[in-house]
Amino acid sequence: MKFVIPRGRLMDDSLAFLRNAGITVEINDSRKLIFRQDGNEIILPRARDVPVYTEYAGDIGICGTDTLAESRSNLFAPLSLDFGKCRLSIIAPRKYRLRDLDGLDIATKHPNITSKYFSSMGIDANIITLNGSLELAPETGIADAIVDIVQTGETMRKNKLVEIRKIMDISAIVVVNRVSQKIKYEEINSFIEKAGEFNGNGKVCKKYIE
Ligand code: PRP
Repeated sequence: MKFVIPRGRLMDDSLAFLRNAGITVEINDSRKLIFRQDGNEIILPRARDVPVYTEYAGDIGICGTDTLAESRSNLFAPLSLDFGKCRLSIIAPRKYRLRDLDGLDIATKHPNITSKYFSSMGIDANIITLNGSLELAPETGIADAIVDIVQTGETMRKNKLVEIRKIMDISAIVVVNRVSQKIKYEEINSFIEKAGEFNGNGKVCKKYIE
C-alpha cells in the first residue's frame, strides 16, 4: 500500500503509528521523498499537500484535521489519532476583541477555514494568505491579526499576541483515498482495524468518520 506521511511535526508519530500497525519502512535518507519496502511505499510531501497526494497518488494518508478541512480533497477519514493535538485560533495584539476585526486584515495559512469562520460570524475580514511565520504579520503591519496554530502558546506570547477565539481543535487523522477504499477494500479495512487498536502513543484511536 502507498502511505502519505507529512514531513515535519507529525512525521515521527505517524511513522510510529504505522509501525504499530505492522508497516515498517526504513527512512534512512533525509533528502529522499519516497521509500519502498515489503510492497509498501511511503510518500513524504509537505504537511499541507498530504490530502492531494492521498487523493491522486496514495492509498492512506495522515494529516491534521485542519489540513483536511482546508483542502478541497474528497477523502474518507475513518480514524482520529492521539497525536498532533493543537488548535487553530484567531490571534491578535491585546487591544483587539473579535468584533473589532470587522473590515481589518487577517493573515493566515488557512484561508478557506478563516474566510468561512469570519463569514459565519458576520464579520467582514480581508484575508491575506501567507506561508508561515505568521506572527510577523501584526508587528510589521502586513495584517492586523492572524489565524494560526497554537500548540504551547509560546510563539504567540513571545510575539506579544493573545488568543482571542479558538476556531477549531486539531488532531492527526487517517485519511483514505476513496477509489483505493473500493479496489483495495480488504487491505485497507484490515489496516484500519489493526491501526485502530493502537496509535503513536499506544492508546486506542477514536472513530472519526467524515
Ligand atoms: C506553528 C504555528 C506557530 C507555532 C505555534 O508554526 O504556525 O507559529 O507553530 O506553536 P506553539 O504554540 O507551540 O508556539 P510552525 O512551526 O509549523 O512553522 P511556520 O509558522 O513557519 O509554519
